[in-house]
Amino acid sequence: MRTIEWHDGTIVTIDQTKLPQETVFLEMKNVTEVAKAIKTMKIRGAPLLGAAAAFALALVSYHSKAVRNAELIGELEEAAGILKETRPTAVNLFWAIDRILSEARGFSGNAKDLAVFVVEEAQKIADEDAAANRLIGKHGAELIRDRDAILTHCNAGALATVDYGTALGVIRAAWEQGKKIRVIATETRPKLQGARLTTYELKRDGIPVTLITDNMVGYVMYKRMVDKVIVGADRIVRDAVINKIGTYAIAVLAKEHNIPFYVAAPKSTFDLVHTSADVILEQRPSEEVTHIGSQRIAPEGVNVLNPAFDITPLEYVTAVICEDGVLSKEDLVKFESNL
Ligand code: MRU
Repeated sequence: MRTIEWHDGTIVTIDQTKLPQETVFLEMKNVTEVAKAIKTMKIRGAPLLGAAAAFALALVSYHSKAVRNAELIGELEEAAGILKETRPTAVNLFWAIDRILSEARGFSGNAKDLAVFVVEEAQKIADEDAAANRLIGKHGAELIRDRDAILTHCNAGALATVDYGTALGVIRAAWEQGKKIRVIATETRPKLQGARLTTYELKRDGIPVTLITDNMVGYVMYKRMVDKVIVGADRIVRDAVINKIGTYAIAVLAKEHNIPFYVAAPKSTFDLVHTSADVILEQRPSEEVTHIGSQRIAPEGVNVLNPAFDITPLEYVTAVICEDGVLSKEDLVKFESNL
């Protein structure tokens, strides 16, 4: 099964807050349910947020009673407003919504045909993501040597996308080519996407993985236990990569130890008209830091800082792996001018 699927007016996905202990499927029939699942991170990961937002608009269209196009477009705009308020950083969510809205506004058929078109378009966005990840895997695997040890952060796997994954897509493709690689996964405080989701995915595929805490990255690099770093991205802007909190520290350490630092992401993550100064870095609830699960670990009333993402300037990035190939920083700039 793909991470997200459309089943005749229902979105089916997996509740990522329950993994790896329990596999619970979520069924959503309206935009409020999808928005809540995104806010609570039952649905997470930049490309998956794009697909979920697209399917949420498909739900609106599928269940709409609108008789005129303008009426349905009004309903889609209202839903878009709700979805855009969920999480501010991953650009894929905004990209998918704006793509569907602009296509819907230019649609020439009647309301019934428009509703069908929006459902098809959402499915297309999901299919494109799955296809892009296979290509990212193919291009990225060429950079991987037999017996490489690859460090990854957070979860940029099948669970963060429609299928296969971005950073984990590269790892999977190299493994499928027979390369005997090993993965080091950081636990990724505070939401533990690395410990819970990345190790789960890799173990399921039989790919050797070792879990470390976030503060062990310097140790494993100093001890020459890492050949490459591959991470995903929530947004790639003109001057930086925005990804899970902790990515910047890993990139700086990688540079210090001459370890290549790759970012694997589909073009739906590119936002090359903006710079890092324009990006809202989501701040999450303090309980995510003061508690582990339901267990309080810090004194009541302590001040907490909990940004979900950080900024890695492009000077730390060796290359960006996307569906078009492996882009150097110079290629990325050229790509921008092609837009
Ligand atoms: O807060 P999350 O779990 O949604 O953050 C996810 C990440 O930071 C991933 O690295 C990124 O979305 C890329 S996923 C292919």
